[in-house]
Amino acid sequence: MTAPVPIVIDTDPGIDDALAILAAMADPGLTLLGLTTVFGNVPVETATRNALQLTALAGQETPVAEGAARPLLRAPAPHPDFVHGREGFGEAVLPPPERAPDPRNAASFLAETARDARDRGTPLTIVAVGPLTNLATALTEHPEMAQTVGRVVVMGGTLRHPGNVTPTAEANFWQDPHAAAQVLAASWPVTVVGLDVTECVRLYPEDLDALPQGRVHRFLREAVGYYARFHLESHGFLGCYLHDPAAVCATADPSLLETWRTQATVIVEGPEEGRLQASSSGQPVDVALAADAPGIRARLLTALKTYGDT
Ligand code: BDR
Ligand code: CA
Repeated sequence: MTAPVPIVIDTDPGIDDALAILAAMADPGLTLLGLTTVFGNVPVETATRNALQLTALAGQETPVAEGAARPLLRAPAPHPDFVHGREGFGEAVLPPPERAPDPRNAASFLAETARDARDRGTPLTIVAVGPLTNLATALTEHPEMAQTVGRVVVMGGTLRHPGNVTPTAEANFWQDPHAAAQVLAASWPVTVVGLDVTECVRLYPEDLDALPQGRVHRFLREAVGYYARFHLESHGFLGCYLHDPAAVCATADPSLLETWRTQATVIVEGPEEGRLQASSSGQPVDVALAADAPGIRARLLTALKTYGDT
């Protein structure tokens, strides 16, 4: 068996973020070293609280470091409470966190964790599943990160599939297109897991019936139920896309994706702001164009099944 991949998840939890984080904490192919939070699905303070609540739900003490409250340059967009609910988990409510966040900000936490992992001989993978503001800030403040980080796996963008916020833009790239452009332009290895594949991977509420009937199951049943109702109204099926879990599962097992190496940029202004585009300049990145959807769903559910029935 290969050694687990050390990861930090940069996140805006969020219902699919919650699925991804709970799976990451239980997946034997990953070691979750921390969570960094960013505005997006909810304000950053709520994202931090939610991340701490998820670690408590899983019985873990994973560090949580708070990051950006707004995009680098563009005006902040309203938080999409019609997708994830006002508090981020639909109508599911978790107990207030008993732990405090890590004293470091997200950028410092990422830089120090990357340096430590590199020094231990197993470089860090950052799995970014929200707007990319923290990663761009970290690159500016700690430019050595382009060398110390082993890989960045980004859930964001779309190349061939329509956007989910505008006809051409995906939500995470659209919320901070300048940050997305900076992350793709840096010389670290990047894998882009966008709507081209994540909208091919679905979870249905009844899939959760296979989980032990404990507190994780109760939380997910309620949160996923809310997310599924949004998908029914906007996409015509009672279930949900596994955006963020696809990025996490493919980090544990890259064979779950087929990728295409291309140079790519992100449009930062105008009616197509946030659009991911293949280009003839810039850094090469690996863009996922096809996925083993049953394999991703199975890996997610296998990890979630390890939570007990209390
Ligand atoms: C992305 O946007 C958010 O709503 C989800 O959590 C995911 O990260 C999908 O476009
Ligand atoms: Ca997210």
